[in-house]
Amino acid sequence: MTGRYGDLEKRLKPSLVRRMEPLSEHSTFRIGGPAALMCLPERLEEVAIILKWATEEAVSWIALGNGSNIVFPDAGFSGIIVKIRGNMIAPKTLWDVRQTDERIHAGAGVSLARLARFSASAGLSGVEFATGIPGVVGGSIHGNAGAHGSQIGDRIEYIEGVRAPDQVVRIPAGHAGFGYRKTEIDTQTVITGAMFVLTPDRPEAIRDRIRAYTEYRKSTQPSADQSAGCIFKNPPGDSAGRLIDRAGCKGLCVGGAFVSDQHANFIVNRGGGTSADVRTLIETIRRRVLHDSGIELETEVRLLETEAP
Ligand code: EPU
Repeated sequence: MTGRYGDLEKRLKPSLVRRMEPLSEHSTFRIGGPAALMCLPERLEEVAIILKWATEEAVSWIALGNGSNIVFPDAGFSGIIVKIRGNMIAPKTLWDVRQTDERIHAGAGVSLARLARFSASAGLSGVEFATGIPGVVGGSIHGNAGAHGSQIGDRIEYIEGVRAPDQVVRIPAGHAGFGYRKTEIDTQTVITGAMFVLTPDRPEAIRDRIRAYTEYRKSTQPSADQSAGCIFKNPPGDSAGRLIDRAGCKGLCVGGAFVSDQHANFIVNRGGGTSADVRTLIETIRRRVLHDSGIELETEVRLLETEAP
């Protein structure tokens, strides 16, 4: 417990901190060098301890959920990764889920698949569209994740978080700036949970929709492969996947990264792919689509800049 982070490590349980943690193990792309420090807070108070310390020491940090929409640099990250993700429902943690009448409160670390299952059992409809999105509540709110014509922000009443250094905040949905795959929640705020307002429905009807969404996803997306979901946002009125396909990019590869044959808006890491490979492939796709259709694609995934530890 020495060195730059020793003081922070003393304030947290040893199981909540890891030094030089390989980010490839925390990204669905399986790409990324080490993080100088990874913190895995279980409670809101621990998030506040981390952000307060990082602010006072001027150490950079980023919040992470399931790592399903990010490309980490090959050289790693020199600051703190604040990862909030649970593997089960546990009361009083950041991965608790509770129902009150037609509302469900979910911690930031709850997976969207779990949230969808929980809401189906509760006979509450409105988040089943999210069943196949490989994210957690916190990250999906930050990027307003969506599928099948719905977005996570549609059903939110308010968001809870900690704003650095240690201010506990509640953001009403109307102040979050939800847009297509974006919010205006500032980067100094870590989302810790949210309240969803849902609509009563028969559990079996909700489960039928979950099954249909899962089938659609399986038949159209390379869900079992290592990827970060859709790489580009859809331009207004069109599909980036369709445009990339039309520009003849399916099967293009750079190193270990290749454009999925199943859905052109997915880059898949075949094994050994690097952040540099992905970035080069993104630029190649962008150029080809611009040349083919005159449309400039904008990335949906977050490309974290290199900050070697
Ligand atoms: N298409 C092609 N070639 C392809 C892929 C798609 O021609 O390689 C065509 C399809 O045939 C279809 C149209 O493009 O006619 C739309 O395809 P799809 O239904 O797969 O939807 P999408 O617009 O490509 C969006 C979201 C997905 C979400 C699906 C299903 C974005 C960027 N993508 O994809 O979200 O899962 O709808 O609702 O908004 C994500 O955000 O990471 C993501 C994967």
